[in-house]
This record gives sequence, structure tokens and C-alpha cells, in this order.
Amino acid sequence: LKCFKITLLGTDYKHLTGQDYKAGCPPPENVVNQDNGAATDGIDEEDNVDPWNVSTSNAKGVDYDKLIVRFGSSKIETELVDRIEKVTGQKPHRFLRRGIFFSHRDMHQVLDAYEKNKSFYLYTGRGPSSEAMHVGHLIPFIFTKWLQDVFDIPLVIQLTDDEKYLWKDLAIEECHRFAVENAKDIIACGFDVNKTFIFSDFDYMGSSPEFYRNVVKIQKHVTYNQVKGIFGFTDSDCIGKISFPAIQAAPSFSNSFPQIFGGRKDVQCLIPCAIDQDPYFRMTRDVAPRIGYPKPALLHSSFFPALQGAQTKMSASDANSSIFLTDTPKQIKNKINKHAFSGGKDTIEEHRKFGGNPDVDVSFMYLTFFLDDDEQLEKIKQDYSSGALLTGELKKILIETLQPMIAQHQERRKQVTEETVKQFMTPRPLNFKL
Ligand code: TYM
Repeated sequence: LKCFKITLLGTDYKHLTGQDYKAGCPPPENVVNQDNGAATDGIDEEDNVDPWNVSTSNAKGVDYDKLIVRFGSSKIETELVDRIEKVTGQKPHRFLRRGIFFSHRDMHQVLDAYEKNKSFYLYTGRGPSSEAMHVGHLIPFIFTKWLQDVFDIPLVIQLTDDEKYLWKDLAIEECHRFAVENAKDIIACGFDVNKTFIFSDFDYMGSSPEFYRNVVKIQKHVTYNQVKGIFGFTDSDCIGKISFPAIQAAPSFSNSFPQIFGGRKDVQCLIPCAIDQDPYFRMTRDVAPRIGYPKPALLHSSFFPALQGAQTKMSASDANSSIFLTDTPKQIKNKINKHAFSGGKDTIEEHRKFGGNPDVDVSFMYLTFFLDDDEQLEKIKQDYSSGALLTGELKKILIETLQPMIAQHQERRKQVTEETVKQFMTPRPLNFKL
């Protein structure tokens, strides 16, 4: 069963359906389900990773190597990181240097084409379920901003206010308002207004015939059986949920944005996101050749852990698990001191004697995401492991790293006016060379 499922991830249309692809025809009813990557597949019952839940019983976090095998993606090896450095002429971002972005699909092809002067565009997104975003949400956006700068390429950012309306007990107006508020936090990450289009699904779907045509094309080529297999939908899920994956898939195709790419349908897309979003893009990659579009490439990040430990990701639905972008310096300090799971020993004597365990220590994990200095990070790791550095001291370093970082974010967000949001969210041409 294990081999069968893994093999399926790499199959093409004919293998999957037993028929040759016919343009414009939906796949037959008896298509075999694709792997949904869910915990129930018997490969690793401890780790559960899907767009709505992430959990493991391992204090070190999800076993990402196993996840790569299970999802059928590829590991980001040192060779790929070196190649990105060579192609861009820039020192790789710490997320690449430290394996925080750890998995990819087709990144080598993207670089092959880029080296032959064939450029690409970036696509990422956010599901606006509340006004406040947390530090974990910054990970893909910080990295996307770096990619935009080093490759000098356009970017589209989807705000799935429709998704949140379908999944949560929220009114349409609330979800749309959250989308606009979240756009301010995203803009505060420093994206270039001349190269970035941010859109709310509620606004853009209704105004773009090309986008909606792609949504319907995708819907015609994916069966209920397939989405049930990929996302675990049940008979009592509303039909909005069942058809939503087509809406998250559509921005992967360049002709969904005629104002940016003209009528071109062949511009390669690269999607940076945490690996929880991969099910959407497995479906997208499966459907792409059937509707005559290139498959989007992906770069996957690991999860920024909850304060309580790496068994779950930081999640906005649990306020105590999260440091929000709206938190004050005092709240940040208190949350870390009170909730950040420690890999230290129970007493100072024991800690000095045996040392702490950075592999399960949330403060240390957070520093791997945000402390840019590799040497300083390594020294902290050694001192903590040897017992020279106490938990309280480690937490202090983290607090002093996060407080200014979040204060600066808040300062930049304050500068984002309604006018700026409108600029980013207006469908318009972008400034780039393909
Ligand atoms: P959402 O709002 O759940 O998450 C937004 C982005 O943040 C990532 N993420 C995290 N990354 C690291 N650590 C965490 N603890 C953490 N929590 C969330 C998510 O993977 C995502 O990249 N359906 C999507 C919105 C969306 C989208 C996209 C995301 C639409 N199109 C294309 C990525 C790419 C959602 O609800 O994301």
C-alpha cells in the first residue's frame, strides 16, 4: 500500500485514469484517489499535516524527511542552495541556509529556465481568518520578499476571504475586512508595489472573467473523488468547500492575470508556502497538463512551532500558542517567559551539569528562524547544550530579538495607508521583464 500510494504521486494522467488526455474533457468517474498525505495512510501515524491541522507526538516536531517521501516532493539539498546562490549572486537567506525551507517541487527546472533568461512569477497567499496575524505567518512572506528581491520578479498574493467564510463562523463582510487588514501586515513586509498584486477573492473573482474561467476549467477536470482523497471532505461538507481548491489553484496559471501577463498562459509560477498548503498544489500540478498549463513549482517551509512545543504549529486559533504581530514588548516577554517550552533541566545545578536540549527548546527554535548571525546562533547552541547558558538567559536573547523585530513591523504597518492598500490591490500592469 505504501509503495502504491507513493508511486501514485508521480503518475501522469494516463496512468491515473487509464485514458489518454482529451482537451476539455473531465476525467472519468473511476479515477483512483490520489494520496491525501493525511495521517491515516498508515505510513506515519504520528504526524498529521494538512491545510487545517498540524500535529505530531514528537517534541522535535514533524519528521520532515518522512513527509517528503509521503508527499512525493524533493528535499532541498545543499546543491540546490548553492545553485540558488550562484544564479542570484546573493548569499542564501537563512531559511535556506538552515533548512527551514526544506522541500521543493521542480525548483531545478525553474533555475534551468531562469539561466536561459526565461523568468517566472511568485504566488503565495493568506487565509484571513482574523485581524491579527502571528509570527509564524511571516515565514513565507519574509522568504517571498527575499525571492522577489533576488530574482527581481512579479508576485501575486491571494487573500482567500471566501475560504474563511466557507470554513469559519464568520460573515462575508468580516472576512473581507480581515483580508484588507491582513494586506497591511503583508505590505509591511516590504513588497515592491510596482511588482506586487494583492487580491481578495471576493473582489477579484467577480471582476476577472479570465480568473473565473480558469477556476471553472479546474473544476471540470477534478472529480469529487479526487478532492475527497486529497482533502478528506465528507458528504456533509458544504459544496463551497468541495469546489474551493480550484480557487486556490487558479493563481498558479499566468493567464488568470491578463493585466499582468497579457494573454500568456505559459509563464512559470513558483509558490513559496509552508508544507501544510501542499495538498492544494498537488491537485493543481495534477490538473495543469490536462488543461494545457505548466505545473507550478513549489518551495515548502517547515512550521514555526507553537510556544508550547513543536508538536503543533503556531496557530491563530490558540491565542496562548502564538506571538501576534500586534503584541506589545511586555506581552512578548510574558508569553515567552511563561509559555515557551524549555529544553532546560529542572534545577540550575542539573542544567549546569548536564546541559539543555536545543532540539526541543522552543526559544532556541525561534532563534533559528530569526537570529541572522550563524556564528552567534551556533555559540548559543553550544553554550545551551553544555549548560553554560541557562533557560532564562536563552529566553532573554529571544525576547531581545523579537521585541525590536515586531516593534519595527508595527512601525512599518502604521505607515501603510488605505491609499497604499488600494494601490497594491488594484488590478494593473506590473513592472518587470520576463
Ligand atoms: P494561512 O492563512 O493559514 O497561512 C498563510 C501562510 O502562512 C503559512 N503558515 C505558516 N508557516 C510557518 N509556520 C506556521 N506556524 C504557519 N502557519 C501558517 C501557510 O503555509 C501559508 O503559506 N489557504 C491559505 C491561503 C492561500 C495560500 C495560497 C497560501 C491561498 N493561496 C498560496 C500559500 C500559497 C491559508 O489559509 O493560509
